[in-house]
Amino acid sequence: MTQFRLAKRVATLPPYLFAEIDRLKAEVKAQGMDIISLGIGDPDLPTPDFIIEALYASAKKPKNHQYPSYTGLLSFRKAVADWYQTRFGVGLDPENEVVSLIGSKEGIAHFPLAFIDPGDLALIASPNYPVYPVATGFAGGEAKILPLTPENDFLPDLAAISDADWERAKVFFVNYPNNPTAASAPREFYEKLVKKARETGTILVSDAAYTELYYDEAKRPLSILEIAGARDVAIEFHSLSKTYNMTGWRIGMAVGNESLVKGLGKIKENVDSGIFQAVQEAGVAALTHGEPHAASARAIYKERRDVAVAALGKMGIACRAPDATFYLWCRVPAGETSAGFVSRVLKNTGVVLTPGNGFGAPGEGFFRIALTVGKERLTEALSRIAAL
Ligand code: MLT
Repeated sequence: MTQFRLAKRVATLPPYLFAEIDRLKAEVKAQGMDIISLGIGDPDLPTPDFIIEALYASAKKPKNHQYPSYTGLLSFRKAVADWYQTRFGVGLDPENEVVSLIGSKEGIAHFPLAFIDPGDLALIASPNYPVYPVATGFAGGEAKILPLTPENDFLPDLAAISDADWERAKVFFVNYPNNPTAASAPREFYEKLVKKARETGTILVSDAAYTELYYDEAKRPLSILEIAGARDVAIEFHSLSKTYNMTGWRIGMAVGNESLVKGLGKIKENVDSGIFQAVQEAGVAALTHGEPHAASARAIYKERRDVAVAALGKMGIACRAPDATFYLWCRVPAGETSAGFVSRVLKNTGVVLTPGNGFGAPGEGFFRIALTVGKERLTEALSRIAAL
């Protein structure tokens, strides 16, 4: 069989982190090991029934079997705007400031194609969701990593960015609550960031997929669009995946600066044909009536967080209880690397963790736990690690 040469942009890609973890997991499973996955952040809780029922009713409507609108059903975009108003006090024009996405990953991956030219710079706070640098590279851009460390509270040090880099930076990716470090960003950070971006004409891409996984009403995460002037420079990506346990449904949204939303829409018109309308109608139900379900999911993750942080503490593994996200970001034991530790745990215990360096070099020395299994399995996973 002829082996065709891959395009350079693909040939030079590292293995996709979660695909690689799936591969390792399958290897260990094939040896008969009972696997407990604390790897990918994929909620184990089911999608609430009322959302499934809305999908069922919508799927029965023949009009929903035809091509959907490119920018998304107006009813979905209105539900997004209403949800932003209720949750963040941010008013959005559903016609011009909201676009539906096939999950926020899709939108984030396509965004650089609309705004990054070959040679443009993208600033990326890292450890990071792997899609930011990959998508920047697909557009021919150059990624500059801003390390997130315990010393800077996992917030990029804006003052350490040179004037030359600010001038060159076309895009700045931020993600709070943060995956993988589980850090939150205070309002003052966003205020400084927005001010600087407006001075330098840098586009702010905020990935806000985890804002609804918080554990303290007094510390509810912000949307960047709550900051005065942010709409001049920012686009925010959000998702129904983590909030309503809908990862498999592939539905999300981008909101904010009209020209940024429209630019992304232009790429999407040319590469996809929208989201199944029945999924969008189910999304309307989720956004409109999903809050009590999101609240009970938060209570479940909070209990898991506390169980896990206590068990890790007893093992001498340093790990802060985060205010948001369903992740724990922990130091690997002294003398081990991220990949070495995670692979030793997987091979010996069947527990899947994510190596910190898989999210970029600044993640070396850490591993991530996703609290996406029930309390019993979580406790079992932790006692296997403790025994090891
Ligand atoms: C993760 O585990 O980092 C996320 O679930 C990946 C994703 O949302 O695509």
